[in-house]
Amino acid sequence: MFHRLFPACLIHSKTHRTLCKYLFINAANISNQSFNVLGVETSCDDTAVGIVNSDRKILGEAIHYQHEIHEPSGGIVPNLAMVNHQTYLPSVICEALNNAELDMAKDIDVVAVTRGPGLPACLGIGLSAAKTLAAVLRYTLLFSLLEAHALTARLTHSSSDLLPFPYLTLLISGGHTLILVAHGIGHYTQLGTTIDDSIGDAFDKTARLLKIPWLKGRGGGPGAALEQYALKGDPKKYTVPIPMRKDARRKREMNYSFSGLKTSIKDFVEKYKLNLDDEIVIYDLAATFQHAATVHLIDKLELAFEWCRNKGIALTALVASGGVASNKSIRSTLERLANEQHNIPLICPPPHLCTDNGIMIAWTGVERFRAGLIDKYTIDHIPKWSIANK
Ligand code: KG4
Repeated sequence: MFHRLFPACLIHSKTHRTLCKYLFINAANISNQSFNVLGVETSCDDTAVGIVNSDRKILGEAIHYQHEIHEPSGGIVPNLAMVNHQTYLPSVICEALNNAELDMAKDIDVVAVTRGPGLPACLGIGLSAAKTLAAVLRYTLLFSLLEAHALTARLTHSSSDLLPFPYLTLLISGGHTLILVAHGIGHYTQLGTTIDDSIGDAFDKTARLLKIPWLKGRGGGPGAALEQYALKGDPKKYTVPIPMRKDARRKREMNYSFSGLKTSIKDFVEKYKLNLDDEIVIYDLAATFQHAATVHLIDKLELAFEWCRNKGIALTALVASGGVASNKSIRSTLERLANEQHNIPLICPPPHLCTDNGIMIAWTGVERFRAGLIDKYTIDHIPKWSIANK
């Protein structure tokens, strides 16, 4: 299929101006009708493609995982990730189309792709494939992965109506730890971020410190493995400081800091000469880490709720997304915070849609397409991209 498509891309790029005009005319015609979007996600380690229609139906998806090739290094190796995207993306696209029983040329109306943030070489693979596919179809649109995390809840939310804006979004992943207010499509206020490591990084580094083997397959990796260990441990057995509580100024900030937490666990192990070959010790340390990370999340979310209240923003929900939001213990704590303290629902996409996936990219395609936010074929990747400057 790709051999057939590449020459088409070259022809189109020469007639780019005419095409862009054509794109907008067709967008206006199609936006009130039902349409299908194919989403491509290659920002980091997994190669993912999803197909969604504008009536919030997930039509098909496929993912090629890379856990096994990265585990020996204890983290993502960018070059290996890129080569794997290059090798597997065409077959992942075909598999998603087969699962959906759809034909690329006949049934897909829009192609969506992660533009950033992410690993530059990996983003490039997804972008060139998606731009090429879009060039032989009629449309393309490209957007931030962060926005996809913020919007997936509108696809998966159980009500028949779309989840209304504004809502508070906690994006907790390997690349990000963000608190956002989602006011509308393409309109977000970032209230806080991490000043050092992301929460996902802290989970991954602590899992490595404790020598916890990665969970394999969908929903796997080091963070998910640490969660399994924490389930068997006692979070109160050991005590480590909750980040940013000591310094009065830091305490009032909506930002996070996770690098100290991982170091606290390391120092604790060294100070008390804990035996890391003892499984019970590992279970308790995993539970201690997870508990402290969760309390830190809640501390800053409370400040965000207060900020919204002071601004008169009537939130409809708390949305949690990103890989770490698939952690069940964190979810239930967030649920108590939203329901009991703030009288709003917690909305989380199902765990497999919290980690990077093609469905959320396709859904963001639906939302942006409806809002008329269509990009040009010449658009490039943005490896470092803030959601505020979309
Ligand atoms: O959103 P995501 O798939 O992509 C990146 O931004 O990289 O998030 C991946 C991160 C990794 O750090 C992974 O270890 C962590 O999410 N993660 C978890 C869990 N599942 C994935 N962390 C804690 N508990 C989990 N169940």
